[in-house]
Amino acid sequence: MSAPNKDFDPVAAEALSEESVAAAVVAAEEAFASANDLDELKAARLDHAGDRSPLALANREIGALPPSAKAEAGKRVGQARQQVKQSLAARQAILEIARDERVLAEESVDVTKPFDRDPIGGRHPLSTIQERMADIFVAMGYDVVDGPEVESEWHNFDALNLGPDHPARSMQDTFFVESADSGMVLRTHTSPVQIRTMLRQPPPIYMIAPGRVFRADELDATHTPVFSQIEGLAVDRGITMAHLKGTLDHFASALFGEGIVTRLRPSYFPFTEPSAELDLQCFVCRGESIGRSDPSCRTCGSEGWIEWGGCGMVNPRVLAACGIDSAEYRGFAFGMGLERTLMFRHGITDMRDMVEGDVRFTKPFGLEV
Ligand code: DAH
Repeated sequence: MSAPNKDFDPVAAEALSEESVAAAVVAAEEAFASANDLDELKAARLDHAGDRSPLALANREIGALPPSAKAEAGKRVGQARQQVKQSLAARQAILEIARDERVLAEESVDVTKPFDRDPIGGRHPLSTIQERMADIFVAMGYDVVDGPEVESEWHNFDALNLGPDHPARSMQDTFFVESADSGMVLRTHTSPVQIRTMLRQPPPIYMIAPGRVFRADELDATHTPVFSQIEGLAVDRGITMAHLKGTLDHFASALFGEGIVTRLRPSYFPFTEPSAELDLQCFVCRGESIGRSDPSCRTCGSEGWIEWGGCGMVNPRVLAACGIDSAEYRGFAFGMGLERTLMFRHGITDMRDMVEGDVRFTKPFGLEV
């Protein structure tokens, strides 16, 4: 029996016991096994195979052992560390394979996907219907004319026989351009383009003017402060209301279908005399649903007719304001809203859809040009 070694530290030696070393190996292997990815494995490695791990610390104790115990403890700890190292390497290999497979899957390219279908947007239906309408009139020999959106009160109101006291001139309806007495407004309709055209060229005049107009309304399902109209004007010798009616009927059937006609109802506009409300024959039921509730027609509400715009014979006072002799020339004029036309033509129920510029609204109209 050898004498007890005075330098032997029983607390430190405890770390070198068979049980402690075996427990450290089990703890390490469990930690490696439960690491789900390489990051977690790295943390487990630091805990169980790093410089401060139980086995590394135990290894340091070996030097303090009596020589007779050193070899055995050294062998035990050495084998344990080797085993931990192998488990770590095995787990590392498995997790690296898993990582590589994940990266490959994430970076894979689906070669069956179409490669030539980048979204290319859609033209706004307001633009296309405007062009479609213009085309119908161009085919009849009309000019397409533009006018300014910031317009003088004289063109927008006075020349059109809307006197200073006309209610449409009030602040509630009209956007005035600062200062209030500047005499300038955002045009409230496209009718001032009639005036500009008659001032610019002598009759015969056949023109249409699509464009944006402005009124002081809140944006909701049925109103928008910025909307669009199309204006028509013909001034020539011998123009009658029959020409107006025939032109509108042709317009209606070209836009809504063969045989669709218009109806004029007596009305009042300061710039036309006589004036009429312009109704469009319902292009869905063609009037067959009139008075019927079952099945009713959703497009015309079983009225058979849809309110479309206004029209009339150009008031001689308007011709006079433009220096045109009303003894020699007569004219007809009409105007209608484009948003409204689109709404009933396509069953659009909310005006906001037309102004918000969302391509999801625009796309179903296709890419007609
Ligand atoms: N300017 C009118 C409006 O904005 C529409 C209109 C009615 C235009 C009759 C016309 C017309 O040319 O003759 O409500």
